[in-house]
Amino acid sequence: MLTSRDETVRIRKLCPMDFKLGFTELISSTVTVRQFTRFFYGICTQSNVYVVESYERTTNKKKLIATATLFIEEKTTHGLCRLAHLENVFVCAQSRRKGCGKTLVHFLIEEARSMGCYKIICTSTSSLSHFYNATGFNEPHCVQTKIFPENFQAINMFDAATPKYEGTKKHLVKIHDGIESTCVIRNIHSRDYDAGITRLLGSRISRDFFEAYLEHVCGENHIVLVMEDGEGRLLGTCTVVIERKFTHGLCKFCHMEDLFLDTDQACHDTHGRLLIQEALNVAYSRQCYRADMALADDRTLTCYDGMFDRNDLIQQSILFPENFV
Ligand SMILES: CC(C)(COP(=O)(O)OP(=O)(O)OC[C@H]1O[C@@H](n2cnc3c(N)ncnc32)[C@H](O)[C@@H]1OP(=O)(O)O)[C@@H](O)C(=O)NCCC(=O)NCCS
Repeated sequence: MLTSRDETVRIRKLCPMDFKLGFTELISSTVTVRQFTRFFYGICTQSNVYVVESYERTTNKKKLIATATLFIEEKTTHGLCRLAHLENVFVCAQSRRKGCGKTLVHFLIEEARSMGCYKIICTSTSSLSHFYNATGFNEPHCVQTKIFPENFQAINMFDAATPKYEGTKKHLVKIHDGIESTCVIRNIHSRDYDAGITRLLGSRISRDFFEAYLEHVCGENHIVLVMEDGEGRLLGTCTVVIERKFTHGLCKFCHMEDLFLDTDQACHDTHGRLLIQEALNVAYSRQCYRADMALADDRTLTCYDGMFDRNDLIQQSILFPENFV
């Protein structure tokens, strides 16, 4: 990186005093000191924001030259492993192309590994693939993105209460050959363990772990939607994980995760679309400015035609097999 006789550079976690060191200028944000400290102390416990600080010996001056975030999502898939989302990678204009971004990303990859994550993922345009490939990311998947422009004005959102997710009324779904069935989308519940939710998720966690997950992980910013038919059989699930960003003026960002359908009972064109639409409704009602969903299987891409605004981003990943349970 940039370290030389006159300058020392170190990577560390964001501190409250970084407001004074110009953190908001670094990310071109207009948040106030009150919003910054509120975010820092309370709201975003899942976000680990890192900065690169440079110290110039001759002038005795410190400044922040780069930042990136590890947003940690607790999963029920893969045992109870965690997933690290690498977000908000930003190097100031004067420090680019000197290895700073690569060093920071390498550091965060090791942080994610040591936090027990089974995988780290990042989303970018394909023009940035070279940068992420240079740091070890690969296995690209197509990302579907929905933008909610009305929700960009998020700066005063701290005091807005978010209503609890109540679920949908019954949907009448045409399956094929004129056959109709009903389905409902609702919040996950402890009885879903017996109904086979872990099988749907490809997970083998015990009931105790499942209940702990419901109690401690699920909530306002982590909503697991479950779709069931008229007889109470599970048809599918999708998780809405909400991250508040320092970039975009503390707006909220929705990661749509773990879309699983029981393909013996449900199909992507009808049930999958309803589930995704409901996840987008949840993201919108929780004032997210954007929702992203990566498709592990590109063959399902056409099923979701017209539901998203763009699909030119890619998600790449690095696996940590030593953390698989
Ligand atoms: C993208 C960014 C983080 C790169 O940081 P950086 O410190 O300039 O990158 P590095 O100097 O560590 O470069 C590492 C490698 O990536 C390549 N690289 C850097 N920027 C690149 C870019 N914009 N496009 C393609 N490749 C790039 C370098 O050539 C280098 O390749 P090499 O290892 O084969 O020599 C920085 O340009 C930035 O902050 N951009 C604006 C914000 C942004 O786009 N963030 C990414 C959000 S997904």
